[in-house]
Amino acid sequence: MMHIDIITVLPELLESPFQHSMMKRAQEKGLLSIEVHSLRQWAVNDYGQVDDYQYGGGAGMVMMCQPLANAIDALTANRKYNEIIYLTPDGERLTQPRVNQLSLQQNLLLICGHYKGIDERIRTQYVTREISIGDYVLSGGELPAAILVDAIGRLIPGVLNDETSALTDSFQDNLLSPPVYTRPEEFRGWRVPDILLSGNHKNIEDWRYEQALKRTKERRPDLLND
Ligand code: ADE
Repeated sequence: MMHIDIITVLPELLESPFQHSMMKRAQEKGLLSIEVHSLRQWAVNDYGQVDDYQYGGGAGMVMMCQPLANAIDALTANRKYNEIIYLTPDGERLTQPRVNQLSLQQNLLLICGHYKGIDERIRTQYVTREISIGDYVLSGGELPAAILVDAIGRLIPGVLNDETSALTDSFQDNLLSPPVYTRPEEFRGWRVPDILLSGNHKNIEDWRYEQALKRTKERRPDLLND
């Protein structure tokens, strides 16, 4: 059973993402458990304060050390984490190999930042890994955390119905996925490629590989250079 704790100032934002489809099934099957913790329970005062002005001046608040340190201390007293991950645009870029590696871990603690981010001392003293989901800036780390959990969760053995299907995802072999079709054979005059209807598995496999290669060359030639 993999366990993921998430520390956030917006727990409501993380209510729905894990309650549907595969993430729901993963939890129901007892393969994954996710706990969202409101940082406010470790606020420095009765107003629920968790952030403050930044030293040196400048616009934007910074999440304070004490609430985060207390939250991390409380959670690490109960559980040993393989990684304490801070979601941040200046972290390492999330890629499929990194997702694969994280899906093998037992316990993860995710920290969602807000405003200008978290006090640097939390990053240096507690965080073991910093992850960005892409080169754009979001208003907080909650959606990135949801993306990370989704990407990891679907790889846990037993979560996917067809366990081989994660292996044929785009990026698993540095190739994009080939086109796919379903019924009917003809829709508004647009036909499904004959080869997919041929029943010849070897030819179908070859065709899919060619299509994947073609698509990757056209759209993401950078993947082929790695
Ligand atoms: N927080 C804000 N933007 C982010 C990003 N691109 N990746 C991870 N965390 C973030």
